[in-house]
Amino acid sequence: MAGYVVVGAQWGDEGKGKVVDLLGKHVDMVVRYQGGNNAGHTVVVNGKKTVLHLLPSGILNKQALCVIGPGVVLNLSVLFQEINQLEEQGLTCDHLRISDRTQLLMPYHVRLDELIEARGGKYKVGTTKNGIGPCYADKYSRIGLRVCDLVDWDVFCEKLKSTLEIKNAEIVKVYNGEPFDYDAMVEEYRAMREKLLPMVCDSVSLVNEALEADKTVLFEGAQANMLDINYGTYPFVTSSSPTSAGVLEGAGVPPQSLKRIIGISKAYATRVGEGPFITELFGEEGEALRNKGGEFGATTGRPRRTGWLDLPVVKQAVRLNGLTDIAITKIDILTGYDKIPVCVGYELNGKTIDYVPASLKVYGECKPVWKVFDGWTEDISKISKYEDLPENCRKYVEFIEEYTGVSVSLVSVSPEREGNIIRKPLI
Ligand code: GDP
Ligand code: IMO
Ligand code: MG
Repeated sequence: MAGYVVVGAQWGDEGKGKVVDLLGKHVDMVVRYQGGNNAGHTVVVNGKKTVLHLLPSGILNKQALCVIGPGVVLNLSVLFQEINQLEEQGLTCDHLRISDRTQLLMPYHVRLDELIEARGGKYKVGTTKNGIGPCYADKYSRIGLRVCDLVDWDVFCEKLKSTLEIKNAEIVKVYNGEPFDYDAMVEEYRAMREKLLPMVCDSVSLVNEALEADKTVLFEGAQANMLDINYGTYPFVTSSSPTSAGVLEGAGVPPQSLKRIIGISKAYATRVGEGPFITELFGEEGEALRNKGGEFGATTGRPRRTGWLDLPVVKQAVRLNGLTDIAITKIDILTGYDKIPVCVGYELNGKTIDYVPASLKVYGECKPVWKVFDGWTEDISKISKYEDLPENCRKYVEFIEEYTGVSVSLVSVSPEREGNIIRKPLI
């Protein structure tokens, strides 16, 4: 069994899409196992940028069957928009399959997300307003609709009717919002159902048969460990498990099928939305890094918060995911900095800790302990051999390896598919 996992080791937007696309040519299947269109995964091929929200980032590699797994929350209208965009570029999505167990993210989830966020103040999470939290909440309340419900039209209509009554009551009575019309929604889904049916499959058989036949399967994480519902900076998190543990649940595969678990970390740090970020840079310094790194959300266009690399966060990702490899991305963005600080621990009540505390109050009292590296000035964005990197850049990479105890197997030096230094082949 040869399952490979790509997960975010920080707060998302580490470059997972780029790495999945890069590995895509070596794999038979790519599976998304959690999240929804809150993800924005960027792939750049020959200067052309494609941002994927729901389609697995392997979709540009035609030989890899792409699967949207049971753990995903699926907004069908966003999916078909994304497929149309690719088709307009002359690409096909014939190699896309969708699990019959996948939850449907409905228009009322999006509206509820907007209404809940509009309360503002200390309750505001800064979500992508794509309905992710409300959809997972319905899933666990057991009133969600699944792809298999839509396959059986009568079941879908019946379940939608009863669920919409509850959701409309919540929208109107709790949040004073606009309710949805059942008949209009039914018509919208009747049309989408026709397009969906040919892609629906029993993904448990499909993915496990591939693994049993020793095919190479890549599991594509969205978001990251610091946004994990259990281990992130709750409540400033997303509503799924982006970790390697989430693969087992969200794709329906056994633990022993996972061979390598690859954590993606930027050479610095970014975060979108609210919540603690200990190494954050503010003012001109934060803005300079944001502009240099092009740190604007791939999904919402929001400016990302920027800061220095926080190694206790990456170490937490090593533990939670069982990382076998780390890929460091965007190290080219650090070129030109005279000094590069890295957080190697948190000072709390006169002691140094190297883990992320559960309580946000306690986390808020933590102060970063810095180790400062000397920078480099050379353009490294075309380098493909590790030994050609400036010595100070190599020292930076090797310190990450030493601190985490995990091999930095890939160093990414540009957004392009080819812009990599491969120190140890990942597949
Ligand atoms: P994801 O959500 O983890 O897939 O990451 P995003 O696509 O949201 O954000 C990563 C951004 O960094 C994208 O714009 C990528 O094209 C870009 N990127 C990825 N790797 C590199 C790199 O090594 N250098 C530079 N300069 N950009 C990169
Ligand atoms: P990718 O896969 C960065 C953040 C939001 C918000 C919190 C909850 O591209 O790395 P949600 O809409 O999920 O309820 O929002 O999580 N967030 C992300 N931040 N990258 C992402 O995905 C994200 N998906 C959600 O900004 O703080
Ligand atoms: Mg992203």
